[in-house]
Amino acid sequence: MKKRKSVALLFNPKKMLLSEESSFPTREAYKSLRTNVMFTLPGSDSKCIGVVSANRGEGKSTIAINLAISFAQANKKVIVVDCDMRLPTIGAKIGINSKPGLSNYLAGNEDVRGQLIQHVDEYSIDVLASGDIPPDPTKLLGSEQMHSLIALLKEYYDYVILDFPPVTVVTDAVILSSVVDGYLVVVRHGLSEFQKLKETFRQMEFSDAKILGVVYNGKGHRSRYGKYYRKNKNNYYYNYEYYQKK
Ligand SMILES: Nc1ncnc2c1ncn2[C@@H]1O[C@H](COP(=O)(O)OP(=O)(O)OP(=O)(O)O)[C@@H](O)[C@H]1O
Ligand SMILES: [Mg+2]
Repeated sequence: MKKRKSVALLFNPKKMLLSEESSFPTREAYKSLRTNVMFTLPGSDSKCIGVVSANRGEGKSTIAINLAISFAQANKKVIVVDCDMRLPTIGAKIGINSKPGLSNYLAGNEDVRGQLIQHVDEYSIDVLASGDIPPDPTKLLGSEQMHSLIALLKEYYDYVILDFPPVTVVTDAVILSSVVDGYLVVVRHGLSEFQKLKETFRQMEFSDAKILGVVYNGKGHRSRYGKYYRKNKNNYYYNYEYYQKK
C-alpha cells in the first residue's frame, strides 16, 4: 500500500529548507550551487548576491534561504535580506517575524544593528526580514540608504543574499544592479516560460546587471539509485557567460 505523508510534514513551512534531513541529491545540489557561486565570484572580499526570476513562484526565496544555509555550513557569515516588500515570504518560510525589517530601516524608523537583524540558530544564518509593507518599495530599494545598507552589511558578512520580487513584474531587482555583485536567475521546471525568461535577461542586461548563472529548479533527479532519488527535486546551476558564448 502507498505510504501517505504525515499532515504535519505537508504543512510544515520548513520542509523545503536545507537540513541534515534533506535528501542526498538535494544536499549535493546545494553544495554544487554554493561551489559554483564561489568560483564565479572569486576573491576574498564580501559578496552581494541577488536571487531573481521572471515570475512568481519559481523558487527564488527557497533558493535564497537554502543557498545561505549552504554557505553557513561552509562556515561563512551570511545574511538573507528579504527585498520582496510586496509579497514577503522569507519570515514565514524560516519561522521568524517579518516585522520590523528592511522597510522600517529604510524609512528611518529603526536601527539596523539593533533589533532588526534576527539570528536563526537552527541554520546559523542572519535574516533581515521585509518589515511593514511600504507604499512604494521600488523607491525605498533605490534609495541612498539601501546602497549604504548593503555596504554596511558587507563589512560584517561574507555573503549578503538578496531575495527579490520577479523581474517581469517590477523593477525592484535591477534597480540595485550597481551594488549587487551577481544575480542568480531561477528557472522552474514546468513553470517558467521562455518569452518571460528572455524578457528577464533583456531587462537585466539593459540595467547592466551581472548575471552569474541560471538555477534550474525542481527537475526530478535521474539516478541509477532508483525511484527514491528520482522523486526528489534538485537544482542545477548553469553558468550564464559560458552558455552565452556557446
Ligand atoms: N524544487 C522545488 N520542489 C518543490 N517545491 C518547490 C521547489 N522550489 C520551490 N518550491 C515551492 O514552490 C513555492 C514557491 O516557492 P518560492 O516561494 O521559493 O518562490 P518565489 O519565486 O520566491 O515566489 P514569489 O515570487 O511569489 O516570492 C513554495 O511553496 C515552495 O515551497
Ligand atoms: Mg519569493
